[in-house]
Amino acid sequence: MIKAVLFDMDGVLVDSEDLSIGIGIRYFEKKGYKADKKNFLSHLGTGMADFVLGTASELGALDVTVEDADEFYHSVYAQELKKHDIAMPGAREALENFKKAGLKIAICSSAQRWKVEANIKALGLEPSFFDVVIAEDMIKRNKSNPDIYLLGAAMTGVDLSDAIVIEDSPGGVLAGVNAGIRTVAVSTTMTRKEALSCGADRVISDVKEISSFTSAEALEEYLFGIADKEVLYGASYVKATGLPLREEVVDKCIKAALSARMNAYTPYSEYKVGAAVLSASSGRIYKGCNIENSSYGATICAERNAVTTALAAEGALGIDLLVVASEDYPPAPPCAVCLQVLSEFAKADTKVILVSTSGEKVEYSFSELLPKPFVFPTMRKS
Ligand code: THU
Repeated sequence: MIKAVLFDMDGVLVDSEDLSIGIGIRYFEKKGYKADKKNFLSHLGTGMADFVLGTASELGALDVTVEDADEFYHSVYAQELKKHDIAMPGAREALENFKKAGLKIAICSSAQRWKVEANIKALGLEPSFFDVVIAEDMIKRNKSNPDIYLLGAAMTGVDLSDAIVIEDSPGGVLAGVNAGIRTVAVSTTMTRKEALSCGADRVISDVKEISSFTSAEALEEYLFGIADKEVLYGASYVKATGLPLREEVVDKCIKAALSARMNAYTPYSEYKVGAAVLSASSGRIYKGCNIENSSYGATICAERNAVTTALAAEGALGIDLLVVASEDYPPAPPCAVCLQVLSEFAKADTKVILVSTSGEKVEYSFSELLPKPFVFPTMRKS
């Protein structure tokens, strides 16, 4: 169970990237070098030394020292902060609500202490709000080494298995993973794919997504409950309302599948199929029918028609129910290709109801119909 949350700072709680780059450009200009935003981008998130020296080597600015740059930064940073609101959406709420939930909260940043403290003030908080504030002065080896998070967990006094790391950069995710702590990546700086390839246990869009949790159990369930149960399914299952499936909704879906079947375009096979999917994200129902073609192989099945229609309307979603209507007895299941496509958005226990025009009904769970879907390596959750 989560007892401590170890936050990276930049890119998670605050976004001081543009601010830092802006000051960097001014600093190098003062030194007689013309720098551009892109010179800084690959040197972010691993501490001041890398940020300054990495950029300096790109520019051939060999006379620049970290101490000199640090002094310049320090002298202008607080002033610059007054002009920008660098708090990430949801950051303050997340910190306050996690505290209400009784969680220990640590900052584990590779930035200098003065900068970390200035950023904490920019969030409208004091360093004393946090149980632990780790900055550059407390660690020898930078992220992606695990040191900072091992220290963070030790200082909060919780077992590694009871801590989570929240990170935005590949080096930071690796640091959390290398520490053996469950690591949640926010996809503000990197893509979901990058985060997963660094070993992130869970990817969320930003801290806002988890900012309203006021209980450790609910946060645990949201972050890891679904993923753990769905290791083989639902690479993209989007959790929804969490409402139970109501009988009248099931009936509506059955009617939707039967009515969609009437629109099937099947001059070749004369075999009509209708489908309906229930979006777990919105509670909306989407219909599909099979559509054939002079080129037989280009035929579109009813199930894929329904799911692609749903995605066109909502983007990635979860499927809580699939109904397939045919004239067969027993009613026909989806073909293997459709099941593979659906597995992207279904859970193992997503209900599948097969109905026939004569009124027969058979129920399955999704995993009974497709026990082992193929999941692309970077989409596997464990
Ligand atoms: N069909 C579907 O619509 N869904 C399936 O899962 C299996 C097959 C359609 C495609 C084609 O129009 C007809 O049934 C015969 O294969």
